[in-house]
Amino acid sequence: MNRILLVGNGAREHAICEALVKADDINLFAFMNKINPGIRKLSKEYYIGDLNDPEEIVKYAKTVKADFAVIGPETPLSKGVVDKLEDAEIPCASPNREMSRIEWSKVFTRNLMRENNIPGCPEFLVFSDKDDKKSIEQAICGFLKDHNNQVAIKPDYLTGGKGVKVWSDHLNSTEEVINYVNEVLTHGNKTVVLEEKFIKPTTLRNSEFTLQAMVSGTNIIPMPLVQDFKRAYNDDKGPNTGSMGSYSCADHKLPFLSDNEYDKAIAIMEKTAKALEQYKGILYGQFMLTDNGVQLIEYNSRFGDPEAMNVLPLLQDDFSKCCEEMIDNRLSKKTWLKEASVCVYLTPRGYPTQPEANKELIVNTAKLNVYNCKLYYASVDETPEGKILTTSSRAIGILGIGDSTKEAKVTAYEAVTAVSGDLHFRTDIAEGI
Ligand code: AMP
Ligand code: GLY
Repeated sequence: MNRILLVGNGAREHAICEALVKADDINLFAFMNKINPGIRKLSKEYYIGDLNDPEEIVKYAKTVKADFAVIGPETPLSKGVVDKLEDAEIPCASPNREMSRIEWSKVFTRNLMRENNIPGCPEFLVFSDKDDKKSIEQAICGFLKDHNNQVAIKPDYLTGGKGVKVWSDHLNSTEEVINYVNEVLTHGNKTVVLEEKFIKPTTLRNSEFTLQAMVSGTNIIPMPLVQDFKRAYNDDKGPNTGSMGSYSCADHKLPFLSDNEYDKAIAIMEKTAKALEQYKGILYGQFMLTDNGVQLIEYNSRFGDPEAMNVLPLLQDDFSKCCEEMIDNRLSKKTWLKEASVCVYLTPRGYPTQPEANKELIVNTAKLNVYNCKLYYASVDETPEGKILTTSSRAIGILGIGDSTKEAKVTAYEAVTAVSGDLHFRTDIAEGI
């Protein structure tokens, strides 16, 4: 099994490719929608196509005689690319459309948690466009009263992290809650979740954390914990982004989380895998520590971006073998370097509101090589002349590695100076950790 197809072309996929080709005998084939220069260099061949067209992906997978496939982003999963590849007898270390519902349907996930008594589930209501408008309004008013207005609204489809609206961050009156529910039901995907808002302890600036795991059926292998920084500007100000950076600690835990709370998060993931029965691939849990314990914000059916960059370089096992184990349902224990990591994302100036695309980026490789760091290309495009241009999304992830998060942070920020261009980045990733 050495011919591997990778679908996707972000920094997360660059990190996945690097982990896949660690073993000597791997032939990597990449299906991308733009040329990621990092992935291009690691691949035997690549193809530029539509990531959301399962037929085109299957055609390419057959052409290159892929032994198995790994899918990076969520949208191809929700379009059923795994189902189509498996129909063509190409196994995948990623979930099929039904299993990836854990990410693309918030209604499915909350119902699964409630029906299986999985801890970490908020109280919630589901509304559909078939419901009577007056009764929706009454139910919303009752729920707001019961929860002292502390609610979150989640459209029931993929929104790239931008569809969730939370009381006091985005919504400040009953009317705004009702209007947003109606807006989603009118323009969205016919169903919406209204749920209790989790409140972080007042002593913590940010109590959200990411737990990723390799999953095969009911067997889950957890990876080091990560915390990411979603807001565009320092001090967690500005609009939400895909994430501006992230960190992990050398002990693979996080400073604000006790062992008992860590175990609770693992137990929630284990119970979820048990309820799903047939999940295969990476499961990503976004959690929040609250005064009522560990709560689940959402699941993703893939690696996080940037969280993949924090964990994969520390994996001591061969990731291509891990994929085979997930496919064959024989996952075994994995080991991770006891090192910390800090990822800083470089984005085009003006990101995310008015990003300046088509600006050239220059990487000083000699300078970069001085540091214990890694560079992962994200949403860039490489011209036929070999120039690297920004697009409207994040451009480069720089990962610093070190014995402590502090050391990894210093390294990451020093390494950032090896990239020149019209760029924006946060200067406070992992500050105070
Ligand atoms: P999601 O797309 O579900 O990850 O939501 C995006 C962001 O909204 C999360 O990272 C949280 O900061 C916030 N969020 C989502 N659900 C809740 C909730 N029930 N309580 C508090 N914050 C939430
Ligand atoms: N870092 C958040 C995500 O990958 O969805």
